[in-house]
Amino acid sequence: MKEPVRVTEVGLRDGLQNQPNPVSTAGKLELAGALIRAGVRHLEAVSFVHPKAVPQMADAAEVTAGLPFFGGGAGRGIDYMALVPNLKGYERAKAAGYQKVAVVLATTDTFNLRNLRMTRDQAEATCREVMAQARADGIYVRAYLSGACACPYDGLTDVSVVHELSERLLTAGANEVAISDTIGAGNPKQIRDILGPLVRAHGATPFNLHLHDTRGMALAMTWAGLEAGVRHFDASIGGLGGCPFAPGASGNVATEDLVYLLHGAGFDTGIDLDHLYDAVAVAESVTQQSLGGNYTRWRRSQERRHWEQANTCAPEDGRAG
Ligand code: COA
Ligand code: ZN
Repeated sequence: MKEPVRVTEVGLRDGLQNQPNPVSTAGKLELAGALIRAGVRHLEAVSFVHPKAVPQMADAAEVTAGLPFFGGGAGRGIDYMALVPNLKGYERAKAAGYQKVAVVLATTDTFNLRNLRMTRDQAEATCREVMAQARADGIYVRAYLSGACACPYDGLTDVSVVHELSERLLTAGANEVAISDTIGAGNPKQIRDILGPLVRAHGATPFNLHLHDTRGMALAMTWAGLEAGVRHFDASIGGLGGCPFAPGASGNVATEDLVYLLHGAGFDTGIDLDHLYDAVAVAESVTQQSLGGNYTRWRRSQERRHWEQANTCAPEDGRAG
């Protein structure tokens, strides 16, 4: 039997939060449907943040109400997650019915201040507050550790800072820590240095890699994560994304690229690559922009070639020149 890898689709939140064109609630639900048809079972669907901070997430409750199989049922439970920046966001997520939330801590004061209007200590205290409430409510918590490889404002992140904050988040009750290269500035060696000691101390289960592909390093870093034992990864369909509070951040690693790599390496994701390829077109249509990772570009070039071959008249016998 193939070893399973959990792929969490974050396009609906991390991907859409930075879109210049407003995306309708119906469009978001159409994209969720296309992803689920492709076999995606783990999705970060929305964030419950201040609507002025991220207008694209203002309809989080409405989106949630329309999500397919929200809350499970008939064995078709989909593992939905919502990002919450504080207790108010947590209460909104809980009221909407989420069983899994994600809190956020960045590695530097500057990044926390730009993103959450809190210093790092304040943001960590807020994470603790949410985690304590979630534990009491029996809700699963992911803690994003943003800027794990570099901060968009302060540069390279020291690996010891990532170790220290990860340890503190786990001790405070995080079920998992998402090591996040928010601006896609990292490299495979950093991933090895970050995850090696953490996995030796805690096993791989509580870790997730959240990689952006800004400099084309995300798949190489994924491989370093796999070698360190990590089996949980985030991705966004067609490479959709960016972060409004992290200048220079481009999209997450494209889900189709990640799935292509994982299937080729013999892992089971439960995702059908052909249907995922179709979902890229849905993402393009709802965001009105061209998207697609390397896998999508390759598939499209193949299709163009086949179309051209089919539509080129072969010279007739005896008359060709
Ligand atoms: N959802 C909706 N409204 C919220 C909220 C939330 N999660 N948290 C606070 N508010 C409201 C408060 O109720 C208050 O409303 P009022 O003025 O009507 O009383 C107002 O916002 C100000 O509250 P305050 O606690 O001072 O928040 P703030 O203005 O300092 O903003 C955040 C802090 C965290 C809410 C805001 O910076 C934010 O939403 N950031 C998210 C950024 C993001 O999504 N980044 C990308 C993902 S990591
Ligand atoms: Zn991200």
